[in-house]
Amino acid sequence: MEDEPLVQNPQVRRIDPDIVRVLAQGEKQLVDAVFASILAISVRLDEFCEDVEGRAAPSNVPSGDLLSERDSASSNNEGVVGMSTAKVALVSGAGQGIGRGIALQLAKDGFDVAVADLTFQEEKARGVVAEIEALGRRAIFVAADVSKKEDVVAAVDAAATQLGGFDVIVNNAGIAQVKPILDVTAEELDKIFSINVNSVVFGIQAAADKFIELGVKGKIISAASIASIKGFPILGAYSASKFAVRGLTQVAAQELAPKGITVNAYAPGIVGTGMWDLIDEKLSEINGKPRGQNLKENVESIALGRIETPEDVANVVSFLASEKADYVTGQVLLVDGGMLYN
Ligand SMILES: NC(=O)c1ccc[n+]([C@@H]2O[C@H](COP(=O)([O-])OP(=O)(O)OC[C@H]3O[C@@H](n4cnc5c(N)ncnc54)[C@H](O)[C@@H]3O)[C@@H](O)[C@H]2O)c1
Repeated sequence: MEDEPLVQNPQVRRIDPDIVRVLAQGEKQLVDAVFASILAISVRLDEFCEDVEGRAAPSNVPSGDLLSERDSASSNNEGVVGMSTAKVALVSGAGQGIGRGIALQLAKDGFDVAVADLTFQEEKARGVVAEIEALGRRAIFVAADVSKKEDVVAAVDAAATQLGGFDVIVNNAGIAQVKPILDVTAEELDKIFSINVNSVVFGIQAAADKFIELGVKGKIISAASIASIKGFPILGAYSASKFAVRGLTQVAAQELAPKGITVNAYAPGIVGTGMWDLIDEKLSEINGKPRGQNLKENVESIALGRIETPEDVANVVSFLASEKADYVTGQVLLVDGGMLYN
């Protein structure tokens, strides 16, 4: 029956003489008409799909001006944690203190966050991951010693792969050393510079490479300090390391501006974290004042009259990580409650 000419089919002849007449003019007309109909339907279908896609994309994006237009985390990346349209930030030293405060604030701002810290901090860091997830964002823990370039590169790769993008790095991890300049050893200098300075170079390099690879106009933000603006006695090596962070920030900002990457730093004053517990303890050993006295005297020098919190710092980082800071680069923003005036 399939090979039989249509007009000779008795069933067709029974249908309608007009149709039979048209068909008699040749099967080609019928085939042309069917193709024309299919073409018309296909064009309408394309228009419909474009319309639907155009409207569907923004409806996936949670509210907030920090979210990217990324459709979703790439589904072909191995180990991707769910799907998201959020921007991705990595915060080093985020297991506690200022880093934890920054990680939580960025999550509140709509970022998915890679919480990077040393292996021994894993339990604390996983606690921060859980806090971020409770805020409705995605988070991963990444074990990394930021004084090792390979760790920093691997941490950035893990964040990009598992969270589906990379937009902001916060080079926050750092240590303090409290020692008169005459007593500082070569080993101590190596240690503080490798953790406070080399880490920032590695963070800038790893993040910039990833931004360029992904075509992202990313943001690099590093921890400086009031000690990056003024040298503080008994914090000589620390002050030098933070001066270096300021120098690197200015240089990287100029070198990376043509790529659309901004580079800034935050400069806290006296924040009530484990770092100041250590500074207070060491100062007591040096000047004999009772524990807590050095911290109290330093806090009294703050114009706003109270010790700084990690949230105070995180609010400034929140700004630097946002589109509101798109035209800010090469800056070290003091957030010290009024200690230095620059
Ligand atoms: N606390 C302050 O008053 C103050 C003031 C100015 C600047 N800062 C700077 O802010 C940053 C955070 O300070 P904080 O007060 O939260 O300190 P903190 O000691 O409470 O926390 C530092 C975090 O960094 C991590 N870390 C240390 N070495 C690391 C390494 N090699 N690799 C990966 N992670 C490492 C620690 O495990 C810890 O979780 C530091 O860079 C510090 O210099 C602090």
